[in-house]
Amino acid sequence: MTVRAVRDISERRRVERMKDEFISTVSHELRTPLSSLRASLGLISSGSLDKRPEKQHQMVDMAIGNCDRLIRLVNDILDFDKVAKGRLPLRRMPVEAVDLLRRAADIAHDTASQARISFRIEAMPAVVQADGDRILQVLNELIGNAVKFSPPDTLIRLGAQPAGASETCFMVEDQGRGIPPEKLEHIFDRFQQGDASDSRALGGTGLGLALCRSILEQHGGRIWAESTVGHGSRFLFTLPTAIPTY
Ligand SMILES: Nc1ncnc2c1ncn2[C@@H]1O[C@H](COP(=O)(O)OP(=O)(O)O)[C@@H](O)[C@H]1O
Ligand SMILES: [Mg+2]
Repeated sequence: MTVRAVRDISERRRVERMKDEFISTVSHELRTPLSSLRASLGLISSGSLDKRPEKQHQMVDMAIGNCDRLIRLVNDILDFDKVAKGRLPLRRMPVEAVDLLRRAADIAHDTASQARISFRIEAMPAVVQADGDRILQVLNELIGNAVKFSPPDTLIRLGAQPAGASETCFMVEDQGRGIPPEKLEHIFDRFQQGDASDSRALGGTGLGLALCRSILEQHGGRIWAESTVGHGSRFLFTLPTAIPTY
């Protein structure tokens, strides 16, 4: 009885601490682009750049960049909150794994080809029981990251194959910069970015993989990553295979 009470209190403290950390990270993440946005607009409005149109342009571009970052951040936080609270009810139905991979590759095609990055899909026949739109969101995030962290003229391999009797394993593998082993276990946490300069240089909020993990856990699946620095990263996730209805 006493042991249980102690455990309950420490669990409550842990949740409180997580909440505090979350709020302080969110405030920081919001304040930085907002202050920068305010500074750019202040400079433009003061008129001190009126005779320097190129500088003025630069300030407007910075303001737009910071606005975009804020929009991404708010969207990610809202999505994350809904998923975490189970407010995004899953509409699960049998979906062909290869269809999901093809649709995700189509969506990323333009961005990838601009960066001279190509896709190869290698999928064995597999049907998963899943909410297709949510899994597409996961694949978009993984492929988006793969494109973001890969140099030109490289290949991204997309795969799916049955894993054991009741699961299907999906793969997104790139030939990009890789992830150091000490970072690998943290990238699925909220607001974790491998490198503090990533968000400014490459866009992103550090919520993408945390969102992927929540979506997959809600499906009864798992997600993990393997990587060799300088050679590439491989993200793998599992989903329950649909029970055939013959
Ligand atoms: N394919 C990848 N190659 C190298 N690093 C990656 C890859 N995917 C994710 N990462 C690292 O994991 C971090 C977290 O990813 P994510 O949660 O999607 O956030 P974001 O994309 O917003 O930075 C990234 O900032 C990056 O450091
Ligand atoms: Mg991302």
